[in-house]
Amino acid sequence: MLAGRRIVLAVSGGVAAFKSAYLARRLVEAGAEVRAIMTRSAQEFLGPQTLAAITGSHPHVDFFEDPDVSPHTDLARWADAIVVAPATAATLSRLATGLSDDLVSGTVLAFTGPVLVAPAMHTEMWEHPATRRNIEVLAGDGIVVVGPVSGSLAGGDEGPGRMVEPEEIVEALREALGSGTLEGWLVVVSAGGTREAIDPVRFIGNRSSGKMGNAIAVEAAERGALVTLVTSAEPPDHAGIEVVQVESAAEMAAAVWERAPGADVAVLTAAVADFRPKNPSAAKLRRAEGLPELELEPTPDILSGVAELERRPCRVGFAAEAGPAAEAAIKAKSKGADLLFANDITAPGSGFGVDTNAVTVFTADGSSEEWPLMPKRAVAAALWDRIIELRAAMPQPGARPRRRRQDRS
Ligand code: PMT
Repeated sequence: MLAGRRIVLAVSGGVAAFKSAYLARRLVEAGAEVRAIMTRSAQEFLGPQTLAAITGSHPHVDFFEDPDVSPHTDLARWADAIVVAPATAATLSRLATGLSDDLVSGTVLAFTGPVLVAPAMHTEMWEHPATRRNIEVLAGDGIVVVGPVSGSLAGGDEGPGRMVEPEEIVEALREALGSGTLEGWLVVVSAGGTREAIDPVRFIGNRSSGKMGNAIAVEAAERGALVTLVTSAEPPDHAGIEVVQVESAAEMAAAVWERAPGADVAVLTAAVADFRPKNPSAAKLRRAEGLPELELEPTPDILSGVAELERRPCRVGFAAEAGPAAEAAIKAKSKGADLLFANDITAPGSGFGVDTNAVTVFTADGSSEEWPLMPKRAVAAALWDRIIELRAAMPQPGARPRRRRQDRS
């Protein structure tokens, strides 16, 4: 998945540079964050302003004209992957020899993650023994070479040397980055809005549709996790998900707390009521009896309860904020969350009921990161990638009873 991934798009100077604008657009549409670098000659073929408009940030063009002190190392530390498209014969040669005399080659040299190159040049240059040698060296260094293909080239020539289409580069990038597997993980997800009874007819509820939690549960199941979805909403139809249907905060708390000690991760997406009627009426309240007096009491805090367990899983919360997410950092700490995803429910396309979401991720150390508006399923994919990273860096709790898929029945 590319959602939430940070991609450096390095453009070197060839006619195929115009395709890099399409490539940047495809990457942004897939939810990736893109920063571009252009060699001097690339700027003869494509205006930096075009890439700036598509990616939302001005391309880096030179070591020494850059506002950053060390743009190549900064970009290399920031990126999840680098794509060099088009990669000219000169750029391939620099990369193969480690000659870091421009910002593209310097950034690739400083980078330790996946690098893809999409060569584009005339057939004679592509078939020259020097280029063949360079390609062999690059492939031996683990660089993924995508294309070229045969077709019409600049100046009316025909033959091998044409850069592959952007869609093919995006596919190759997806493959290179992969999506982390959750094989062997036990996951608990909560979803939907709880309902707190006033009487047998009425309740205190909220607008959660369950879409965000469902997307998280489905993405985890697709990646091989054993998923329990504790929900008060319509669950997804997915064979890999065990559904526990609940209604109130108390029922949700009981179901989550029962399963959390055996889980690796608990993602609590549900919008849980913070208070409920203390004495719900057993009979329907009648209008003729006058206005009822509702005494409220707090509901159990499910997330805090998970954090207090002796054997607690990695804890991920969500926070529905009406406005900027400043409060969310405090909430993450007070509820003992390892990660907290805040969404502004007043922003268009974000929060309750819609198919998209824009979240700000807060980590336990107080740092935060804003993700762009994307489909809830793409948020879910990026969320699991982030949890995989987090768990890899965390000491794991003691052994837990393993459950197998067939233990479910
Ligand atoms: O379901 P959708 O229509 O797709 O909408 C998604 C969503 C907006 C509901 C979701 O993205 C979201 O923001 N969920 C959390 C909503 C919420 O209750 O936020 P909160 O700030 O009140 O709670 C913070 C965290 O504490 C949440 O993880 C919540 O599950 C948890 N909590 C809250 C109260 C409580 N009594 N117990 C809890 O565990």
